[in-house]
Amino acid sequence: MVELEQTFLNFLLRHQERHNRTYHFIILMDAITNAAKLIEHYYVTGALKGNWLGADTVNVQGESVMRMDRIANDIVTHHLRSTGRVISAVSEENEERIEMSGDDGRYFVYFDPLDGSSNIAHGLPVGFMFGIAKRNLKGPEDHHLRTGKEFIAAGMFVIPTGTFTLALREAGTWRFHVNETGTFVKPTRMMLPEATKTWELSFNAGNSSTFAPSVQTWIAENQQRQAFRYLGALAGDFHRLLANGGMFMYPAIVAHPDPKKNRPEGKLRLLYEAAVVAFMAREAGGAAVDEHGQPILEVQPQTLHHRTALYVGSPPLVESIARVLQRH
Ligand code: F6P
Repeated sequence: MVELEQTFLNFLLRHQERHNRTYHFIILMDAITNAAKLIEHYYVTGALKGNWLGADTVNVQGESVMRMDRIANDIVTHHLRSTGRVISAVSEENEERIEMSGDDGRYFVYFDPLDGSSNIAHGLPVGFMFGIAKRNLKGPEDHHLRTGKEFIAAGMFVIPTGTFTLALREAGTWRFHVNETGTFVKPTRMMLPEATKTWELSFNAGNSSTFAPSVQTWIAENQQRQAFRYLGALAGDFHRLLANGGMFMYPAIVAHPDPKKNRPEGKLRLLYEAAVVAFMAREAGGAAVDEHGQPILEVQPQTLHHRTALYVGSPPLVESIARVLQRH
């Protein structure tokens, strides 16, 4: 017998029904999952069709953009716009806000269409990550950039693995898998392991000597008890962390031998990277802090592409490093 799994659509309909919610969010999520499937298609056929080749432009962060990033950005932008439900969006690939349905819309979407760009040329895992906030329904909308705490949902697709993780405010973090017909099925609740023998630390060890001395000391004191894993794509690293427990970190770079390469504010982007995984972590029982040891979900974005340091994962590890960061 073929086993029938609950589909993502069925899961979402029941969730909306249980919480007396509208169908608008379902329309938005339908567009997002369709965009992800299309990106996945272009990605797996990328080598054949030449979509991986060439760094043909430079994005607003000063990084080289491969063609696949632009394809993914166009796909997501088109799908979000088509819903008629998105007020405006912020994409990693666009310097300015992308205006969509204005005040007729209901949601703000912050996204990175293809995160982990160094993996693209090799067809290795990358992420499509997004955070969603809702307009003020009670009065005039001031269009302020939302903190992670104000998100109603956040999620990521690890491309090309056919997996999708979605966190819903106060309703948990759920993982889905694509089935034979390309449908996301089988909701599985994800909880960050509190304590396990397989805890993993995930960070770019090549940068270690550039971290703050207190962070370097913390690593030296704690590394024996953890395994190291680093894929170089936040979505992939966080995906494994959600199952195995541990901590992903991208500390501030403060002691680079070439001071021009320091990043005291951190590297990752708050709105569509750090806040997205922090929201998913919170709904899975985890935590996330910045270089001051303050909760990522409370950091107010100052600009669309605000950068931050990030420490995210199982509470004992995040709390331990947070105490160190708060002291310095
Ligand atoms: O730009 C974001 C990103 O690609 C993340 O997905 C990833 O975690 C990080 O940068 C990798 O950076 P690095 O190559 O410096 O380790």
